[in-house]
Amino acid sequence: GRPLKGEITIAGAKNAALPILCAALLTAEPVTLRNLPDLQDVRTILKILAQMGLKVTFPNPDDRSVVVLDGSDIHTPEASYELVKTMRASILVLGPLLARFGRAKVSLPGGCAIGARPVDQHIKGLKAMGADIHISHGYIEASFGEQKKALQGAKILTDMITVTGTENLLMAAVLADGQTILENAAREPEVTDLAELLIKMGANISGLGTDRLVIQGVKSLHGAQHAIIADRIETGTFMCAAAIMGQTGADLMLKNARPDTMEMVIDKLKDAGLQIALGKDWIHVVMNQRPKAVSFKTSEYPAFPTDMQAQFMAMNAIAQGASRVTETIFENRFMHVQELNRLGAQIVIEGNTAMTEGVDELSGATVMATDLRASASLVIAGLAASGETLVDRIYHLDRGYDRMEKKLAAVGAQIARVK
Ligand code: EPZ
Repeated sequence: GRPLKGEITIAGAKNAALPILCAALLTAEPVTLRNLPDLQDVRTILKILAQMGLKVTFPNPDDRSVVVLDGSDIHTPEASYELVKTMRASILVLGPLLARFGRAKVSLPGGCAIGARPVDQHIKGLKAMGADIHISHGYIEASFGEQKKALQGAKILTDMITVTGTENLLMAAVLADGQTILENAAREPEVTDLAELLIKMGANISGLGTDRLVIQGVKSLHGAQHAIIADRIETGTFMCAAAIMGQTGADLMLKNARPDTMEMVIDKLKDAGLQIALGKDWIHVVMNQRPKAVSFKTSEYPAFPTDMQAQFMAMNAIAQGASRVTETIFENRFMHVQELNRLGAQIVIEGNTAMTEGVDELSGATVMATDLRASASLVIAGLAASGETLVDRIYHLDRGYDRMEKKLAAVGAQIARVK
């Protein structure tokens, strides 16, 4: 119940950093990255890469946003179960390891709380490029086909739009023999950011931002420097925090943002009554009224991002009016709903649609985080609820948010991390 007022600096995007860190496996020369977010998932992928022999250096140990990666001495093109089980995006090492070394052994990622999340499309695409792939004892073992010196370019049409599937196949294709066409490619800004780095490294890719990527394989890639794109989901999360504080007021300046990657989220928050001013790299939001309920259906970029669904559900919980939210990407991404209802929300789930009747007030309680964006949703709801809200299991939150409680406390929220 405290007004939010002040400036927040947005970090680099988690979902761009993870594939971009793996792209360093594609060259023997140093890759320097700036605007790297300091997150659990980033630390996990850096551990996996270091285990393979990739050298990770922070030029200034006090500044973990700049890192130099040196893949000149990769001795073990493998990713172990112990680390992969903590983060399924580790599958993103498969494409680059196979492309550069001709072999890879990566633990098959398990499912996760929000869904089965198979990687069949990643495997289908690599097989189309000539890879021999077999799965045994929970590991994917991949190699070039017999007597082959490289993957072969291919035309690949994925059954559905897959973000990391597109990224894995893109990283495999840049060193393949010949041309690869990725049809039905994901258009997320993080995919484009990866492609931009690969082009800086000497890759030949066209169709960025479209659902058809055309890659002309090259013999090798060289080092490069790159600043990671701003995190549109972190930005949207803080915008939802402002919108939910309508009764007490919010006035936030979000810096180092990329409003051009957030059109749908901005439109929906305007419908909710958030006042939004946009600059090239900043977003100023003001809220001094109860939010209005907004309905939406999640879909692939540029439509409404599934990673913002839980945060909007928190806002809808105390919005004026009723709303319908349909989750079309993952089969089990409503676990925050039961927890929001513990805070007094009136939400009913029917299949993959959640119907919400906005209530006047939420009341603080102990709730449990189940996955990354559900955690953010519960923190946002706690800001608006009367009394104290305790969010348990916030290791989920730390996977994808860089010290969220510090950023919120700095703009007036009464929030602290407790042991
Ligand atoms: C990426 O996951 C993001 N993670 C997710 O963000 C995001 O929610 C998701 O894309 C959708 O935008 C990273 O980029 C690291 P998909 P990804 O492959 O690539 C099915 C967050 O909160 N599918 O686009 O794993 C899949 O089950 C995280 O930051 C297959 O069936 O998602 C899902 O239903 C959560 N077979 C749908 O496609 C495959 O081989 C989209 O999944 C691949 C995917």
